[in-house]
Amino acid sequence: MKINVLYAGTEKSWPDYEQYLKLAFHQRRLNVSLKCNFTDLGEVDYIIYAPNGPFNDFSIFPNVKAILSLWAGVENTVSNKTLSQPLCRMVDEGLTEGMVEYIVTHSLRYHINLDKQISKQDGVWRHDTMVPNLARDRTIGLLGLGALGSACALKLRELNFNVQGWSRTEKKIPNIECLSGDKGFDKVLKTSDILILLLPLTDKTKYILNSKTLAKVKKGIFIINAGRGSLIDDEALISFIDKGTVAAATLDVFSKEPLPSSHIFWEHAKVTVTPHIAAETRPQTSSKSIAENIFRSENGLGLLNLVDRVEGY
Ligand code: NDP
Ligand code: OXD
Repeated sequence: MKINVLYAGTEKSWPDYEQYLKLAFHQRRLNVSLKCNFTDLGEVDYIIYAPNGPFNDFSIFPNVKAILSLWAGVENTVSNKTLSQPLCRMVDEGLTEGMVEYIVTHSLRYHINLDKQISKQDGVWRHDTMVPNLARDRTIGLLGLGALGSACALKLRELNFNVQGWSRTEKKIPNIECLSGDKGFDKVLKTSDILILLLPLTDKTKYILNSKTLAKVKKGIFIINAGRGSLIDDEALISFIDKGTVAAATLDVFSKEPLPSSHIFWEHAKVTVTPHIAAETRPQTSSKSIAENIFRSENGLGLLNLVDRVEGY
């Protein structure tokens, strides 16, 4: 029997996805009809979905067995009132690798004080006699120890940072201090030199960094947000940067994207803006995750990365 899979990602990415999905289905020995359109919507078995794709109404597909999100963050999809089918978020080795590279780069930039060290090319030799800290002298805290947070934690640990992470449920990751609950959250805030946000956006995590919680952070902390913009209250962050509590912040995600050109983040000297590029879902690698999930579903093995509709991620 043919399995009918509807691609509902962006038109721009279709040629790449068509190529790599077909290859991945073939490698998993799945007999798939992959299309961007089906005349009979009742025939569709799976939807490969992105919120910036062609439709947002899931109610018109009566027999769909699962929605396979191309995005890791599913806050918009999970809140879609027409969604009744199981939803899987994207976990993709390419996405994870990309995020690890982004987080390590920006952590090291702050750790070695790169901005200060780079020569201004003005003929002045600014050699500081102070011996800089090594990674072993610094603590990095990660809010979120999921697919992305745990991979970043392990890579930062390999570089010799002291790494602590916080998650909703308790975790065990070798050589990482895994914390949860309010006490764990406070510890991460109070003791981290660099704080990384890799949480999903849910009712519980919205504005998790606000004037009350930022008041608890270690003075001079650096913040890197690659989760979602609304994890942080923008005004509170600026105020704590201006007070000198937060040394600097690198932000990849924003409450409103694209970040409006008038937003203070663009002109603030201690804020670095990157345009939601921390990590991309790559057709070549994510096609394998999608094929694997369809294989599992068709063989009664249970879907991977199933979104918990109550928790919202
Ligand atoms: P996961 O679902 O694998 O991990 C989420 C982590 O957050 C888990 O450790 C989870 O805890 C924790 N968490 C969720 N809610 C709470 C809470 N209330 N209190 C404490 N911890 C909580 O997601 P990923 O790691 O795959 O992705 C994380 C986010 O990164 C995505 O949701 C997305 O928003 C963002 N993202 C950004 C990209 C970019 O380019 N900037 C690219 C891709 C993703 P537990 O382990 O107990 O479930
Ligand atoms: C995602 C993202 O959620 O790109 O995958 O932010």
